[in-house]
Amino acid sequence: MRPALASRHRQLSSGNNLTAGPFGLGGIRHNKLTTQQDGPDDSRYRLLVESITDYAIYMLDATGHVTSWNPGAERFKGYAAGEVLGTHFSRFYTPEDREAGRPLLALAAASKAGRFEAEGWRLRKDGTRFWAHVVIDPIRRGNELIGFAKITRDLTERRAAEKALRQSEEQFRILVGGVTDYAIYMLDPIGKVISWNAGAERIKGYKPEEIIGNHFSRFYLPEEVEAGAPANALNIARDAGRFEKEGWRLRKDGTRFWAHVVIDPITDDDGDVVGFAKITRDITERAEAQRELETAREALYQSQKMEAIGQLTGGVAHDFNNLLAAITGSLDLLRKRLPYDPRTTPLLENAIQGAERGAILTQRMLAFARKQELKLKAVDIPQLVRGMSEFIRRSIGPNIDVRMRFADVLPRAQTDPHQLESALLNLVVNARDALPNGGEIAITADQVSVPSAQGERRSGSYVRLSVSDNGTGMPAGIASKVTEPFFTTKGVGKGTGLGLSMVQGLAGQSGGWIEIESEVGKGTRIDLWLPLATIELPTAGLAVTDEAGETDERLVVLAVDDDPLVLTNTVAMLDDLGHNVLVANSGDEALVIFQRHPEIDFVLTDEVMPGLSGSQLAEKIQELRPMTNVAVASGYADLSPASAHHRTALPRLAKPFTLAQLANFIDDLDLQAAPHGERSTEFLRS
Ligand SMILES: Nc1ncnc2c1ncn2[C@@H]1O[C@H](COP(=O)(O)OP(=O)(O)OP(=O)(O)O)[C@@H](O)[C@H]1O
Ligand SMILES: [Mg+2]
Repeated sequence: MRPALASRHRQLSSGNNLTAGPFGLGGIRHNKLTTQQDGPDDSRYRLLVESITDYAIYMLDATGHVTSWNPGAERFKGYAAGEVLGTHFSRFYTPEDREAGRPLLALAAASKAGRFEAEGWRLRKDGTRFWAHVVIDPIRRGNELIGFAKITRDLTERRAAEKALRQSEEQFRILVGGVTDYAIYMLDPIGKVISWNAGAERIKGYKPEEIIGNHFSRFYLPEEVEAGAPANALNIARDAGRFEKEGWRLRKDGTRFWAHVVIDPITDDDGDVVGFAKITRDITERAEAQRELETAREALYQSQKMEAIGQLTGGVAHDFNNLLAAITGSLDLLRKRLPYDPRTTPLLENAIQGAERGAILTQRMLAFARKQELKLKAVDIPQLVRGMSEFIRRSIGPNIDVRMRFADVLPRAQTDPHQLESALLNLVVNARDALPNGGEIAITADQVSVPSAQGERRSGSYVRLSVSDNGTGMPAGIASKVTEPFFTTKGVGKGTGLGLSMVQGLAGQSGGWIEIESEVGKGTRIDLWLPLATIELPTAGLAVTDEAGETDERLVVLAVDDDPLVLTNTVAMLDDLGHNVLVANSGDEALVIFQRHPEIDFVLTDEVMPGLSGSQLAEKIQELRPMTNVAVASGYADLSPASAHHRTALPRLAKPFTLAQLANFIDDLDLQAAPHGERSTEFLRS
């Protein structure tokens, strides 16, 4: 664009130079032609005229007959001096001009006005035409006209060049005018629009007559005009030779578009800026696509980060869970076996409470990592929430009102009821913390169907359980982080920052998701979306008894775990419950023992072990003796596809478990002991 404009200018200027002539025609005329007749330097002027080949310089007598002829005249008119001297100069005119009497008219005009100047077609000797620039001056002696000096120049080439230039300008105008993808227009030095193409009209919405003459700052947003952006752009273009930028611009109808703008200065031969060429492109769509790409990239980054944190947290929590299983189990047994002693029993209770709190923490971490052992049931949400209402009211204190509102008919939701209780409690406690001066918490549930997937939303029918408060709310920067594990604003020791991580993990593992809406000063609403329960799911409700004791049914149990701490604990519990226990440190070892002991009634195995996993062991055992019961004790939902098949089939006991939970679990399995001999505990260690 720039070079084209610049060169166009150069062409135009060189055209001007041609007209002015390289050595000042006026000077020659004066010095030579008015003095040739009588000056002493006659021979010098003759020499000069005779050496000029670019101009035909010759004289006519008063009636128009040629009286002198120079080489320039010979060169481009084609006549030798001998052929032309004494003949009438009208022979150089075209027949039409001759007919119109132009030759004599020219002489008359020259003698009357003192000078005649014109351009027109003239004839060469060979009959071809050339475009001539002609000057005729009368020569007088005193008052008497004695002849004419005639200077003719062949301008055919210049005329052709000018025509070509006009054509190219015309083509250029058509080209620019026809471009519709780019607004291409010119500004004068102060920024007023002086040309307007179809693209400009299409993109900006103004017709040429509406905009030409107006300052281009009207395309800028008011705040940018105020900040001086339009003038600044021209200054940069003027100083740096180019201005290029993207930004919002306004259309005639007031809507915005994202524009890519280039401004080039247009300079004349002296380097002075005579205007600006401006090219604007509407790249709103491209910019939007780019923004979407960035959002997607950010989301991907976030999900990868969460995935990594999840793996780490899940791994740590899994190991911790095993340790806690050993601790709670052993403490449980100790409490049971030791007589009450005011000096030791409170310490024991204290240790148990500490371990239980640790267990809750690891549960939350597992929940966030979506590695929690969930017992999905068909949960009646209103019933569950109402069942907790006393507890909720006690946790939030008297300054805060709780409102509950549920849809009249609400299908059951698919989730783990115990986990949902702790999720709900966390939401309520969060709301309470956001209401330091009191306020209102609303717990609502309704059924919503999602017609098509969008973002985290998946299509289907859901129960939406919402907890909202009219408390402090959160700025966007915080709201986007609250589901990250360990993110808390509550200070060290006050919050773990795992509450919402757990809620999100639970929702995800149940087949749903959570949504957070918050506004500073207005409050927060958190929605838990849970899929509707399928018919096969068991219904939640029956409370688990916390009583445990020796069962009547004495079983032979094979306990399998790769962690000796956990194994010892499980064995001690089973033993305490009165069962005969065999132990194995790995799946492979368990298989050997199982084959050697046909009296085994029940196998309780860990899931995640080196070598044979719990599920694989179960498969092998059921191949050997299909009637044998196998259950998996795990604190870690291994979601690998290989184990998915067994996950649904095998009874599962969540770790860490208490003596009472183990007793209940075995009771629920309703195992039948085969008749066999003495009770014994065999420890096999490899
Ligand atoms: N209803 C709410 N109003 C305002 N801020 C909230 C609300 N709920 C959560 N938050 C913010 O989100 C953060 C994370 O919440 P989350 O429940 O995950 O952890 P926590 O409450 O800080 O710790 P914990 O749940 O272990 O007590 C909170 O620290 C708080 O800043
Ligand atoms: Mg919380």
